[in-house]
Amino acid sequence: MSTKVLTLVGSLRGASVNRKLAEAAAAVAPEGAEVILYEGLASVPFYNEDLDVEGQVPAAAAALREAAGEADAVLFVTPEYNGTTPAVLTNAIDWLSRPFGAGALKDMPAAVVSASPSGFGAQWANDNTRKALGVAGAKVLEDVSITVGGRFEVFAGTHPKDHAETATELAGVVSALAGALEPANA
Ligand code: FNR
Repeated sequence: MSTKVLTLVGSLRGASVNRKLAEAAAAVAPEGAEVILYEGLASVPFYNEDLDVEGQVPAAAAALREAAGEADAVLFVTPEYNGTTPAVLTNAIDWLSRPFGAGALKDMPAAVVSASPSGFGAQWANDNTRKALGVAGAKVLEDVSITVGGRFEVFAGTHPKDHAETATELAGVVSALAGALEPANA
């Protein structure tokens, strides 16, 4: 049975490099791991406790929770907006963190890949996303998370899946997420 890695991308733009990195992770995923890009983030409303009531949860938020419930691990691929995680991802974490202590992210292996044109590769967004995932109950693979900085011009002409260094790094992240489940799969 393959490990399902639900992958959420923090950029909604069509030419997103972070989306290309998520696509590359799917392309280089090792045998036994399946990377699933989640497509519905743009329609998830901002988290509102008044809406988080049995039977009244907005459909897009319920669909996100269902997708996470069917996954074995999560991969967040994110740029950095104003020194932190883009709202579309923090909002997803908010919906996946509730009910407190029993949200879809609870004890789920999680890793973060971040990318930005700057040489720092969205390090602050990476740090903040890992922190939020940990607070939300995920089992964050701290040393597995990677930053991809200063390669944007490379990716203008070469898809990350065809960039050897990046493909190897991404395959390593997906393998580590699958490996984090070993006891359950053994
Ligand atoms: C940015 N960008 C940016 N980059 C960075 O390294 N640190 C930052 O704080 C910011 N802040 C920021 C805010 C907003 C609102 C935007 C739209 C952009 C640049 C950002 O990293 C760049 O646009 C990347 O291309 C975004 O990733 P995608 O969309 O290519 O995946």
